[in-house]
Order: sequence, then structure tokens, then C-alpha cells
Amino acid sequence: MISSKQKKSTSRIQMRYLGSKRTMMPFLEGVLRPLLLQQPQPQQHPGGAVFGDLFAGSGAVACHFAPLAGRVVASDVEGYSCCITRALLQVPFTPRLQRLVRALDALPGAAGLVTARYSPHRGCQRMFFTVANAMRIDAVRAAIEVMRASGEASAAEAGFLLASLLVSCMRVANTSGHLRTYLKAFLASALQPFKLTPVHQRPRAEFPPSARRSAVLQTTALEAARRHAYDVAYLDPPYTRSHYGAYYGILNYVLAYDATAEVYGTGGAVRGYYKGPYGIRATAAAAFEELFGAIRARHVLVSYNSDGIVPKETMLRLLAAGGGRVVLHTAPNRRYVPGAQVTQKHVTEWLFHVDRAAPSVPVGKTPKPARGWVVHGIASCPYTREARALLRAKGIAYTWHAHKNSSDPALRKVKDATGHPTVPIVLRDGRLLGGYRELAAALG
Ligand SMILES: C[S@@+](CC[C@H](N)C(=O)[O-])C[C@H]1O[C@@H](n2cnc3c(N)ncnc32)[C@H](O)[C@@H]1O
Repeated sequence: MISSKQKKSTSRIQMRYLGSKRTMMPFLEGVLRPLLLQQPQPQQHPGGAVFGDLFAGSGAVACHFAPLAGRVVASDVEGYSCCITRALLQVPFTPRLQRLVRALDALPGAAGLVTARYSPHRGCQRMFFTVANAMRIDAVRAAIEVMRASGEASAAEAGFLLASLLVSCMRVANTSGHLRTYLKAFLASALQPFKLTPVHQRPRAEFPPSARRSAVLQTTALEAARRHAYDVAYLDPPYTRSHYGAYYGILNYVLAYDATAEVYGTGGAVRGYYKGPYGIRATAAAAFEELFGAIRARHVLVSYNSDGIVPKETMLRLLAAGGGRVVLHTAPNRRYVPGAQVTQKHVTEWLFHVDRAAPSVPVGKTPKPARGWVVHGIASCPYTREARALLRAKGIAYTWHAHKNSSDPALRKVKDATGHPTVPIVLRDGRLLGGYRELAAALG
């Protein structure tokens, strides 16, 4: 069970990241939670299922579901992603780390590679950081290296400090979200003095037991699929032509801090960044076919969306090819346009789920969740009453399931299946919306 304390900690992971599922967690949770809790699991570890997050990105999904798993394996091709995910998943915040962060944050700036390549310093035109902030970033980066080399920081602690530096850099970057291009004038946020803040502040006691058994691999999803077997494998691949190594190359540069790395073009891309097959129209479908074929997992879940370069029907066909039942869950999401200042309109977020142990259903005849509004509640509960009154006031018809009290076995089943611990439980088209608060927010 993800406790409210753990939920609060994981929801504090605030990195803005292209394709991040941070805001889609309730949607994912409605589907993934029951699968992770399902017993028995063939790959089961002490304490639960093996959960794979093979395109980990910001690490938000791996961290969110870690409390429900016995073991987590996260992978991503990008070094910055693995550095951040490792710190979030494996390294508790300690008084010693607090001291080290403070010491680093107190350092005066000193020009180095970031100042020379990514700030308007001595002939460099790029305005990703103010010169003063770039110098602070350089000073912190150099000092972490000294701490690691001298043994003042262990490898895990140095990793935590680097992850903290990366997310702190993002906060003062003069960009519209990702780091592909800089803006022509410094934003107010970029003019703020750089501040090194810890990537998280969760003490050891808040780390689930699965943290000790977790692994973060800097490798392709295909390789991670070949190396491990999973109970639940979650895939959140790039769905457009955005190569993350180009969009977040500066973070890799700060991490590697290699003076011989070639930085080129207006955007300061780092030569040789990874261009995977999933973001290229000509190779995407074949790459998915190979990946789905390689995964050893009972449940395979794929996040994709209606803006993606592979059509829904192709995805369904490829997923069905390995046998099992394929179900498609959908949810609306705001469209994020790289480079645009604002999100525009909506896209449909897809979550494909293949249960390879279930009898297969012909593609196109996948069972659809029940349509319409459903409320589970206790008639005497004030929040249940409020929720029903609100639906009535909005003229929304709904199916009402009255439960006697909170230990009613039928209500328990609904709580377990949805992961929503209190009443009312409001569902829309078979998916959890939430309780009264979420309903009120959704209906405006
Ligand atoms: C849509 S993002 C994942 C977002 C993530 N679920 C989150 O919530 O932050 C896609 C990720 O796939 C990674 N990626 C791209 N090609 C890959 C590959 N072949 N193998 C593994 N990861 C890859 C990118 O670096 C990027 O972090």
C-alpha cells in the first residue's frame, strides 16, 4: 500500500520532463496497482512483484510504484536519467548529505566548462544560464568530483549530489522546459541566483524495502528486457521525434564534465547523442516488435498517445502477437509542445495492457471498461452525500453502489482494485476518478 506519506514524498519529485507521467499517476495507478498486488507472481521476490520501468526518464514512475513492488528495475539510455532515478530510488537523504549540500551551495562561482559552453561568457553566445549561475554550477560540479575522489562522499552520496545539481540546474535554465534551445532574453527564473537543493529529502525510514533490491541500468529497454524477467513491465517510450539526448544533452554534459566532448550548434548539442529507433517513423514499429518479443513478463504495459508516430491499431497488433489479452485504457491529457511556452489542447493518453496469462481476444474486440459514472459509498458518509449531490446538481446520471460500512467485503474489493482507500469512490468509464475532492475538481 502506498501510504499518504510516501505519496507526498514521491509527488515532491518536481522535475519538468518531456513525457513525464507525474500528473498521470492516478490513471496509471488504477491499472498498475492491482497487478503489482496480485498473488502469486512467478518472479516474486520477498515482499512482492518485480516491477520494470524500462524507459525511466525522470524516475517518477519507478519511485511511485516502488512501495508496491518487491524489486524495481529501472532503465534508460540517458546518463542524467539514471543518475536522478538512482538517487530517488536508492539513496536516502541523511544529515551528512544535508551538510554536503550546504557546503557545496556556499561555494563561490568559478568559471569552468558550463560557463564556457552554455553562458554568454567570453565570446560564447549561448544563454542557457547567466554567467554568475554557470560559474556556481561549475564550482559545485568540480567540488563534487573532489569530494568523490577524496572519499569525503561515497559513490552513492556523490551520485545524490550530482542528481541534486542536475535538477537544480533545470530550475535556473533559461529555457521553456527542456534544454534544447535557450530564450533570447533571460527569464526571471533564470536570473534568480543558483541554489543547490537536494533532489529529495526522504530519510531512510521512508524508503520501501524494494529500494534495497532495486537496480538502475543505463542501457536500452531492449537490453534491460533481455537481462531480467519481470512480473509487471512498464514501457513509456518516446512517442515523437524528440531525441532526449538532444533535449537534455546539457545535463549529460554537466554529469560527464568532459572537456573533450564536442558541443556544437546554437543549441550546444553534445556530439554523438543517442538517437533511438522509437522516435523514428521508419524504425519505430519494428523496434517495438523486437522489444515486445524480448520481454519476459506476465503483464506488459505501454504508455503511448494519440500524437505518437505508431498508430493505435499497429500497437494493438504488435502487442497481441505475443499472445494474451490486450486491453486499452485511455485518459485525456494536456498536450505538451516542445519549445512552446504553453500546453495546447488535449491528447488522448493510451495505456495498453497485455496480460499474457489471460486467454487472448481478437484485436478490435478488446473488452471495454463499463461506461458512465459509478459511485461506491456509504449513504451516511457526508463526503458520499456531497459527491452524489454534486452529480445530481450537474445533471449527471450515475450508478450508485451502497455499502453498509467501511468493512463491507464488497467495498474492500473495490478499494483494493482501485487503490482508493476511502469513500466515496468515483469511477468514470471504468477508471478511478477519485473521491469527493477529485470529483469536485473535475466538475469545476
Ligand atoms: C516518455 S520518456 C519517459 C518518461 C518517464 N516515464 C517519466 O515519467 O519521467 C521516454 C524516455 O525513454 C528514454 N529512451 C529513449 N530511447 C530509449 C531506449 N532505446 N531504451 C531505453 N530508454 C530510452 C529517454 O531517454 C526518455 O527518458
